[in-house]
Amino acid sequence: MEPIPRLEDLPDLTGKSVLLRADFNVPISGGEITDNLRIRAALPTIRWLAGQGASVTACTHLGRPQGEPDPRFSVQPIREYLTAVAPQVRLLENLRFDPRETSNDATLVRELIDGHDAYVNDAFGASHRAHASIVGPPEHLPSAAGRLLTQEVEVLSELRANPRRPFVAVLGGSKVSDKLAVIEALLESVDALIVGGAMCFTFLAAKGHAVGASLCETDMIDTCARLLDGPVTIHLPSDITALAPPGEIMKPELGGEVRQLGVDLPAAFLGVDIGPGSAAAFADLIADAGTVLWNGPMGVFEDPRFGAGTATIAQAMADTKAFTVVGGGDSAAAVKRYGHQGEIDHVSTGGGASLAFIEQGDLVGLRALRGADYGHS
Ligand code: 3PG
Repeated sequence: MEPIPRLEDLPDLTGKSVLLRADFNVPISGGEITDNLRIRAALPTIRWLAGQGASVTACTHLGRPQGEPDPRFSVQPIREYLTAVAPQVRLLENLRFDPRETSNDATLVRELIDGHDAYVNDAFGASHRAHASIVGPPEHLPSAAGRLLTQEVEVLSELRANPRRPFVAVLGGSKVSDKLAVIEALLESVDALIVGGAMCFTFLAAKGHAVGASLCETDMIDTCARLLDGPVTIHLPSDITALAPPGEIMKPELGGEVRQLGVDLPAAFLGVDIGPGSAAAFADLIADAGTVLWNGPMGVFEDPRFGAGTATIAQAMADTKAFTVVGGGDSAAAVKRYGHQGEIDHVSTGGGASLAFIEQGDLVGLRALRGADYGHS
C-alpha cells in the first residue's frame, strides 16, 4: 500500500496558510471541556506547522448537530482552550452546523480550501467519515497526515500485521451487531477474545444460559453460536453483577438489590457488570498476553455500583508487560477515570475510527491523502 504523505512531504510552508482538520470532538459539560486528550494530541502538529512559519486555520466537528447552528455544540470552549495553548491557531465554527459537511458537498470543500496553500488531516477519530473536510481538500491542495494521524496509523497497522503473541482482544459495549465486523476481523488474528459488557449476554444466551432482563439481541444469537464454534477461544464471563427490580442504572436512590450471580440470571435481574471471578480470570489472560487491545467497558462504570469489572480490566492493562492499546471512546474514558492513562502504551483518540481501521486496515480519509498531489511533481 502506498505510504500516506507526512508533514515533511509538504512544500515549503514559510508564510503559507494551512487548513488543519482536527478531531476536537471533546466532551463538554456546562461550557467546560471535561477531557482535553484530543486537543492535546493535536498540539505537536500545530506546533510543527507554526515552527515552519505557516499560519494555521483549524476546523473540527463537535457532537452531532443537525446541519444547522446549535449553541449546545458551539466550539467556543475549544477556541478558548486553544487561545491558551496555541494562540496562533484560528478555529472555524463546528463543521456540522453546515449540512454540506456530512453530505461531502463540493461547494463546501471549495469554501474550506479558499485562501489556503496546504491541507493537513490530523483528525484520526473522524477519518472513517467520507465528509467534506476529510476527503475533499486533498483533491485540491498539497496534503499530508499530521503527527497524530501518522502515529495512530503506525500503531494500529503494527497491531494488525505483527502483534506480539499471545494477542488478546478485550471487547465490551452493548451490542454484538455494532461490533460484528470487528469481532470477525479480530478472530482472524487474535489468540483469544474476551467478551464483556452487555454484549456478553447475547453470547451467553447462545450457550443456553438464562440472561434475565439483560440486554440480549435475539436475532444475533445464531451468529454468536457460530463465532463460539470457531477455532479461536472466546472467553465469556463466569459470573455477573446484576441489579434486581425496582433498581435502575444510574439511579441508586431507587434501591434494588445488587447481587453477585453466576451466568444464569433469574427473570427480572439485569446484568450490568461482569462479576469479580470473571474480572480476575480476564486479568490473568491480560497478564500473560504479549499484546492486548481493549475496546468497550465491562459494565456501566459510570454508575459506581457497576464499575468494578471495568476497573479491574483497566488495572490489568496498566500492570501487564504486554503492549497495550486502548481503542478510544468509553474505554479511554475508563482508563482515565481509574487513573491509568500514563500506563497504557497507546490510547487511541478514535473510537469508531480505530475499530474501522482494525477491521479494514484503511480509512477513507487515508485513501484521500494517498491520492493527493502534494506538490512535488
Ligand atoms: C468520535 O467521537 O468517534 C469522532 O469524533 C467521530 O464522531 P462521529 O461518530 O460523530 O462522526
